[in-house]
Amino acid sequence: MPDEIIPITRPVFDEEEERAIPEVIRSGWLVQGPRVADFEDKFKTFLGVKHAIATTSCTTALHLALLAAGIGPSDEVLLPSFTFIATANAVEYTGAKPVFIDIDLATYNIDSEKILEYLDNQKAIYKRHAKCILPVSLFGLCANMESINRIASENGLIVIEDAACGFGAKRNGRFAGTEALAGCFSLHPRKAITTGEGGMVVTNDDHLADKVRKMRDHGGSKTDLERHLQNGGSMLPEYNMLGFNYRMTDLQGALGVAQMDKADMIIEGRRKAAARYDELLQGVAEITTPFVPESYTHAYQSYVCLYKADSSKLKDKADIHWSDVDVWNRERNRLMARLEKKGISVRQGTHAVHTLGYYKKKYGLNDYDYPMSYIADRLSITLPLYYGITKEEQLRVVNSLQELIKTR
Ligand SMILES: Cc1ncc(COP(=O)(O)O)c(C=O)c1O
Repeated sequence: MPDEIIPITRPVFDEEEERAIPEVIRSGWLVQGPRVADFEDKFKTFLGVKHAIATTSCTTALHLALLAAGIGPSDEVLLPSFTFIATANAVEYTGAKPVFIDIDLATYNIDSEKILEYLDNQKAIYKRHAKCILPVSLFGLCANMESINRIASENGLIVIEDAACGFGAKRNGRFAGTEALAGCFSLHPRKAITTGEGGMVVTNDDHLADKVRKMRDHGGSKTDLERHLQNGGSMLPEYNMLGFNYRMTDLQGALGVAQMDKADMIIEGRRKAAARYDELLQGVAEITTPFVPESYTHAYQSYVCLYKADSSKLKDKADIHWSDVDVWNRERNRLMARLEKKGISVRQGTHAVHTLGYYKKKYGLNDYDYPMSYIADRLSITLPLYYGITKEEQLRVVNSLQELIKTR
């Protein structure tokens, strides 16, 4: 009999979620109503921020946050070249130009030194268009918001954080998503808590929050919930700005409420599972486990390892032997295919976005332009991780990995 499949992740649903959905159906209020408002309240309380505004996804959350911060055509937005394509797509939607910046291979996050290099070069060449830094707290590890915020304030830039994977992650005791002008979260099932699809913009800025709220609902001056709470709701809103339909449904809101009630437990469970992998993988020389800098608390949205490459020795193009990377990439791909065959779900971490057709062609980019991102794309492996993964399942993953590496 084939072994049972170990999925890459599993959502944590129980009777609470099962009860929540029929309640919404019975209530008759399906879109951006009381359950979405409850979810937003819980989310903002959890993170300790002034505003949490639910959207249909992190992609749309990013789109709204960028627009509300005034980003548009003729602006440049600096973002890591290793991230999910949606980070760059959200910039494209605004008409601004995404400018890729390479990552620090040890953390998989944007490299502050390389942001400075880009800004210094621009100063020397022509009038600057850089307006925003869009760091990503990738895989559940906060970006280095201290240095990013410093660079931003010294250069008059805005910071919007893509915290799609950052729910529950901390840096110096502060949550991912809370150290920028706005933070954007994803509630897709690959994330620690999920509403199916869904996103959230968080901010302490009243003006930005007001704009995001209106823009997610066609640009209307008030929401249906506000309208119905006032005078029976017969007077329709004013529309003074261009908006979108990025409203979350109450079915999702109800799931979100139930998920928030177990958020601490889920994050703790993921951390424990990650610690167990760290221990089990100690003796596997070919695998570098996720690095956690001092004063950072990883939330392990994904447990992403590096195959063969030693991130502590790779800082620059000059340190890289491309022929090794190509050989190791073929080995990594074969390893992943063989793990899948054994019922163990694995993935590469995410993409080097500059290597993807749309961006490559539009901006004339080459694969080796951002070498650390290229290596992360070609050599990363995400292992299965979820709340409730058992020790036996993790042992099976690590033993299979070891065995397949040996028989490569
Ligand atoms: C870094 C990053 N940004 C943005 C997104 C987009 O999130 P969503 O699927 O909620 O639009 C994702 C999704 O995986 C992501 O990983």
